[in-house]
Amino acid sequence: MSKDSTINKIAVFTSGGDAPGMNACIRAVVRNATYHNIEVMGIMKGYEGMIDGEIIPMNSRTVSNIIHRGGTILKSARSKRFMDYEGRKKAFEHLKANAIDGVVAIGGDGTFRGAQVFSNEFNIPFIGLPGTIDNDLSGTDFTIGYDTAINTAMEAIDKIRDTAAAHERLFFVEVMGRDAGFIALRCGIASGAEDILIPEIETDLEALSQKLGNKKHKDSMIVVVSEGDDAGDAFKISSYIRERHPEYDIRVTVLGHVQRGGSPTCMDRMLASRMGMEAVNALIDGKKNVMIGIINDKLHFTPFDSATKHHTRIKPYLKEMMEVLSI
Ligand code: F6P
Repeated sequence: MSKDSTINKIAVFTSGGDAPGMNACIRAVVRNATYHNIEVMGIMKGYEGMIDGEIIPMNSRTVSNIIHRGGTILKSARSKRFMDYEGRKKAFEHLKANAIDGVVAIGGDGTFRGAQVFSNEFNIPFIGLPGTIDNDLSGTDFTIGYDTAINTAMEAIDKIRDTAAAHERLFFVEVMGRDAGFIALRCGIASGAEDILIPEIETDLEALSQKLGNKKHKDSMIVVVSEGDDAGDAFKISSYIRERHPEYDIRVTVLGHVQRGGSPTCMDRMLASRMGMEAVNALIDGKKNVMIGIINDKLHFTPFDSATKHHTRIKPYLKEMMEVLSI
C-alpha cells in the first residue's frame, strides 16, 4: 500500500436494487477507512442523495450491529436524474463541497454504467463493488447478495415442493434475475426442479410440453422460470402448458422481492467484508474506475465498461446436470 496516498476522505453509497450483504460491505468500508485514519461519509439513496447532497458522516460506531442485517442502512434508489449531465454536475459539486477524494459505489450494472459516465466527465476516483442478487456482472465469480437470494429461493421452492407433492400438482415458480438466469439455475438445481427456463437459452414451449408429458410418473413437478425468459412470464408459460395438459393441476408462484431481503448468508458476509476492505485499499493504492471482483479466491480489478458490457456466461453443464438429475 502506498504511504503517500492523497486519500483523506472518502464516501460510500449503495445503489440499484438492494442486496443482502450491502450492510456488511458498508461496515467493512467504514472500518478499514477508519483503521487508515481516513474520514468516511455516507451518501444516502445512491445517486439521488449525491445529487441532493444527502451526505452524512460515518464512523466505526455508526456501522455497529449491521453485519447481519438485510437491506442497506444507506438506503438505495434507481436515479433517472443521474442520467442527465445536469444531475451528474450537481452530484460532483456536492462531492467537491464535502472534500471527497474517492468514492466506493456498491451496486450492479446500472450503478457502474453511471460511474463510468461520471468518471469520464469528472475527476474523482470511483471503486465499484458488485452488489446485486442477479450475479450478472463480469469480473467476479459471485456478487454480494446472490448466495443469500438463491438460498431464500431454494427454501421457498422446498416448501412449494411439499404442497405440490401432497396435491400431485405442477408448479411454475418465477424467480428474479432481470435478464440473467443465474438465480433460476442454482436454486432450480438445488431444489430438484424438473425444468429451468432462463433468458440465456431459447425456450421451446413445445419441447417443454412434451417433456412434462413424459414425467407423468412423478407425484410433483416444479418448473423454475427466470423472470426475463424469452417465452414470457410464469403465468403465460403455465397457460400454454395448461392448454396442452388439462390432466395436470397447475399452480403459479412468483417469489418476487422476498428474494431481495433477509439476513445475509455467511458466504455473502465474507464476500462483502473482503470486498469492502479491498475497496479502501484500492483507493489508497491510487486505483480508480474499476470494479473489484474475486475470481478463484483472487482479487480482480475490472474497468467499469468491461464489467457491465459483457454479461457473464452461464455454465452449460448446469442445465445438463438438471436434465439428468430430474428424470
Ligand atoms: O437487479 C436486482 C433485481 O431484483 C432484479 O432481479 C429485478 O428484475 C429487479 O431488481 C427488480 O427491481 P425493482 O425492485 O426496482 O422492481
